[in-house]
Amino acid sequence: MSTQIEQSPFIQACFGHETPYTPVWIMRQAGRYQKEYRDIRAKHSFLELCKSPELVSDVTCLAVNMLNVDAAIIFADILLILESLGFDLDFLKGHGPSIHNPFRLESNLDQIAEPNIPESYAYLHQAVALTRKNLPAHVPLIGFAGSPFTVASYAIEGGSSKNFEHTKKLMRSDPDKMIALLNHLTEATIDYVKLQMDAGANAIQIFDSWIGVLSAQEAQTFAIPFAKQIFDFIKMYSAQVPSIYFGVNTAHLIASMKGAGSDVMGIDFRTPLNTMKQNLKLKAVQGNLDPITLLCDKAVIEHELDHLLSTVNNPNQGYIFNLGHGILPNTPVEHAQFLVEQVHQKTKR
Ligand code: CP3
Repeated sequence: MSTQIEQSPFIQACFGHETPYTPVWIMRQAGRYQKEYRDIRAKHSFLELCKSPELVSDVTCLAVNMLNVDAAIIFADILLILESLGFDLDFLKGHGPSIHNPFRLESNLDQIAEPNIPESYAYLHQAVALTRKNLPAHVPLIGFAGSPFTVASYAIEGGSSKNFEHTKKLMRSDPDKMIALLNHLTEATIDYVKLQMDAGANAIQIFDSWIGVLSAQEAQTFAIPFAKQIFDFIKMYSAQVPSIYFGVNTAHLIASMKGAGSDVMGIDFRTPLNTMKQNLKLKAVQGNLDPITLLCDKAVIEHELDHLLSTVNNPNQGYIFNLGHGILPNTPVEHAQFLVEQVHQKTKR
């Protein structure tokens, strides 16, 4: 990793160090709220876009240039990994993801294919390498994956879900089968993360978006140990690449999630960031403005930002500003630009 990247505010903050201002990036910073993205999507399906290294590099860099954020995140999706395990993945307009052959309580483990990650994700390797080359030399590139639990929930439900009924039914009726599925996903995800690190990713975020639907005890059995294996791998493979663990509705889980061993804890907008940082002695935190705030007037955005920053003990150490979940498709671009500019201005020393 270049010295410029190592010294960047984002990487420094990830490792809990002091920064000249609070680095900021936005979850889902490349997406439908941008006209340029919608124009590309009018010509290419979502999966076509994910599998074209040139287009991935274009949309990833576009977000950085448009917003002046302190990190890029490779354009991809947490569900792509399912294809290598034999799941038939599709994104239907207006319906989100769809898996046509979900894994259910009555399914046979033989249904899960033996993945060949380097072969299945050559496009991602190329996309990360090309994006790293096209980005400004001082801007770190974040690679990412879903956590085994969160990705398993899609494989089991067959798509997005409100109550996670098939997932919880499988977990409780046949925990061994659930754990076998999670083991397959963990192994594949470690190779998938390794591929991104080999291609030039400078940090890795693990999205455990739906871990919050579990009780603390269930999370200890079905989510955290699998995420921990991924963080252990990242740490062993490179001391220079920091890791981030993000989940939604996690107030009851953060103490246990800390045990997974990421460098940074990503905190959603319901949970007080600084209380967590201090009480749990977290080295670095990321978050957590409610994405809805960006739909409001600039005066409201500034007010909410001031409030959030006032609760953060020291925004110039171990703090990465982000939204508490992904940016919404109807967000005005200039509001996102205004937010980034204000975070930089208000935290500059
Ligand atoms: O942050 C970025 O800019 C990188 C790209 C990124 C996408 N998905 C692109 C995307 C990232 C980091 C993700 C992660 C992801 N994908 C998560 C975890 C983050 C979270 O929101 O909690 C989850 C749960 C998914 C699964 C997924 N992908 C869903 C549920 C959907 C449909 C919902 C929706 O927002 O449309 C997607 C599709 C998706 N992934 C889009 C984008 C830009 C929209 C696709 C489109 O252009 O129509």
